[in-house]
Amino acid sequence: MERLKGLILSGGKGTRLRPITFTSAKQLVPVANRPVLFYGIEAMAAAGIEEIGIIIAPETGDEIRETAGDGSQFGVRITYIVQDAPAGLAHAVLTAEPFLGTDPFVMYLGDNLLQGGITDLVAAFRADAPDALILLTPVPDPEHYGVAELHEGRVVRLQEKPPQPKTDLALVGVYMFTAGIHDAARAIEPSPRGELEITDAIQYLVDAGRRVEPHIVQGWWKDTGRLEDMLEANRLVLDRIERRIDGTLTESACEGRVIIEAGAVLERSTVRGPAIIGAGARLIDAYIGPYTAIGDGCVIQDAEVEHSILLEGSSVRDLGARMESSLLGKDVAIARSLGQPRAYRFLVGDQSEIGIA
Ligand code: DAU
Repeated sequence: MERLKGLILSGGKGTRLRPITFTSAKQLVPVANRPVLFYGIEAMAAAGIEEIGIIIAPETGDEIRETAGDGSQFGVRITYIVQDAPAGLAHAVLTAEPFLGTDPFVMYLGDNLLQGGITDLVAAFRADAPDALILLTPVPDPEHYGVAELHEGRVVRLQEKPPQPKTDLALVGVYMFTAGIHDAARAIEPSPRGELEITDAIQYLVDAGRRVEPHIVQGWWKDTGRLEDMLEANRLVLDRIERRIDGTLTESACEGRVIIEAGAVLERSTVRGPAIIGAGARLIDAYIGPYTAIGDGCVIQDAEVEHSILLEGSSVRDLGARMESSLLGKDVAIARSLGQPRAYRFLVGDQSEIGIA
């Protein structure tokens, strides 16, 4: 097989992670303090893919360009491809056609995380040379995904988010295609949600008698589109980190699988892993519990935080109870006002969520 290119889809709207995604691309929301997108780029690099096209939206594209750069930090070459409107995954493929040419390619949805990478799948794709290879995994809520029906190990039907799914096999957001996908994407009509669906384009290949190989994913897979999924992805990745303490500890303790980045300062604080504390963060009389990622430059003082993600520059001070299962955007400040009368005081952006018990 000729050289394989990579296509990462990092356009789209990101409505489900608002308000975080009002100001930032959803593919840049960090998992264990690294943008989700980086995991996909690294998986491609590890599989020997050197040329990667990244689909970006006009609104959030600049930020993605700045963060991922020319790809040299990953040992790949990145070409950015602007998609005018989020008109669907198959529309993104057509937008990338000048970059892809007739080369086979791996398509990776920029908000997906796949344990174990794609190296074995790329090898299988090269060896078996099907027209397309799709990844499937059983999920409890298939109506939220593309859903596959198999018969004797072959793909017979694919449906995008069917209200009454026939199986629990979801399409994972990693696909391998040969150039035939371009004609398929041109042949289909927009779906009820107004998008050119890659699911329909693959169904077109099946109907045309082309060989579409299904692969059941063995490890975990996460689409990080929602808060619960982000927290779970964070848990799964933090579970694998190796202990590394580069910051400064004063009368503080780090238990288990903990990363403290250089320049972070801990005073009279405890971090119980798995957890990561970003560069320049300050923990003062604080407790950080398992499955927490504290971004660069955050401040936690007289407070307890557990099972949460804090983006860079945020602060949590003087809380009366433990903060948990939370996602704070950049430069968010949470503090208890100690004056009288006892009252809550908020300055909160659109579509935020605050839980008070
Ligand atoms: O996560 C797996 C699911 O991804 C599959 O099971 C579905 O079959 C597939 O349609 C897709 O569903 P989503 O509704 O979750 O896709 P979403 O709109 O979240 O877009 C996925 C990624 O592609 C995301 O990083 C944004 C990007 N994107 C999306 C659209 C619609 C683009 O770059 N351009 C687009 O036009």
